[in-house]
Amino acid sequence: MTPADPDFPVLPAGFRFGTATAAYQVEGAHDQDGRGPSIWDTFSHTPGRTLGAATGDTSCDHYHRYQEDVALLRGLGVDSYRFSIAWSRLLPRGTGPVNPKGLDFYDRLIDELLAAGIRPAVTLYHWDLPQALEDRGGWRVRETAAAFAAYAALAAERYGDRVERWITLNEPYCSAFVGYAEGRHAPGARESGGALAAAHHLLVAHGLAVRELRDAAAREVGITLNLDRIHAVSSLPEDRAALRRAEVLHNEVWTEPLLAGRYPARETETWGGLADGPWRRPGDLELIGAPLDFLGVNFYRPITVAAAPHRSDEVEARTAVDIGLTELDPYGTTHTTMGWPIVPGALTELLCGLHARYPQLPPVWITENGAAFEDEVAPDGSVHDTSRTAYLHDHLAAVADAIAAGVDVRGYYVWSLLDNFEWARGYAQRFGLVRVDYDTLTRTPKDSYHWYRDLITAHRARTEEPAR
Ligand code: FCB
Repeated sequence: MTPADPDFPVLPAGFRFGTATAAYQVEGAHDQDGRGPSIWDTFSHTPGRTLGAATGDTSCDHYHRYQEDVALLRGLGVDSYRFSIAWSRLLPRGTGPVNPKGLDFYDRLIDELLAAGIRPAVTLYHWDLPQALEDRGGWRVRETAAAFAAYAALAAERYGDRVERWITLNEPYCSAFVGYAEGRHAPGARESGGALAAAHHLLVAHGLAVRELRDAAAREVGITLNLDRIHAVSSLPEDRAALRRAEVLHNEVWTEPLLAGRYPARETETWGGLADGPWRRPGDLELIGAPLDFLGVNFYRPITVAAAPHRSDEVEARTAVDIGLTELDPYGTTHTTMGWPIVPGALTELLCGLHARYPQLPPVWITENGAAFEDEVAPDGSVHDTSRTAYLHDHLAAVADAIAAGVDVRGYYVWSLLDNFEWARGYAQRFGLVRVDYDTLTRTPKDSYHWYRDLITAHRARTEEPAR
């Protein structure tokens, strides 16, 4: 797959390319210019929570180096850049006084992008809840959804004239279940009711934010989900039942209310009496199910599940909302350094499955896809990351297959522009098209960066869109 190689996946005219990052993973400047603390500051500063006690205090220092990073984006020739706003930069305590310097930072970033011909795609919530709101119950309580709506209104009013695409939430599955049930992410809770309440309040927050964005005449409004292609390890009845529970946990909690205006049919089978919790109110489904302009899908790898021998409340359980299943890895394939199996065809299956199931499915954007590998730096500083290039190639080909099968996929964002803070895994996992030396903060484009640039150029030439 050299630049001249005709083996680039063939995508339709008008298909858009981008890269994605998230505020806490790249910005640094955690206590500068009035930014308030978020749950990720607290979590990463708590001993034992992140690999090597890593924090986002400095990270890639994108807050100060955003011009260099936008220049890298311009060099790639991407149409769009997906980044997230740190809620606690705009509203240090989540509600109340606004921080003008925080507002100014995203003005500068957006204007820099537009000057480079790159359209901003903004995620309002990429996991960094203001700590002040967590102190009042976090996503367990409905007030947080109302606070989110006010924050969305503020952002829409300030940036709505320049932002092309708004993503309310990134992967609410992780916010609710990894944050409040497994405890692997901030705020590190291990609760079952709390996690289900969080899931619902996140959906309510999304619905309220959509209203605010519509009122502010925002251009495109959607949400990003990490949907999973899940298999049962066998066709035994107990494994198939585990698969159905996993489908509720990973996918249907989100897709059913958002895309079909109902709660999952099998929720009682999955959660028992917790399913219909007191956090639900009349009118919520109408709010949550309001039409969207697009659905963002993040995809990295498929999952296989088996029935666990018994249900338990043990903290070792994979999730505190223990639904009696185990995730296995039976894939006879290669893996990324995250331990994730590489199965590009699973992305095609996932997209085709969504298309078949939901007649109201809006256009889809792949808002994240990418891979972490052991990058080796050659003596001349270059990084020949052929595994990453192959991963991206094969997943773009999987997207092309889904489009050929009738799914309306509009664009694709590589995760990530830069190596960055990979949550509980600290700095050990490198996903970037651009290498970051964390001692010097020097950025070095990897081979995959050049490959992606050439793919975008070739796509424009083939579809006769003007080159940048
Ligand atoms: C996704 C997150 C993103 C990044 C990738 C690897 O779940 O949305 O921030 O960490 O995984």
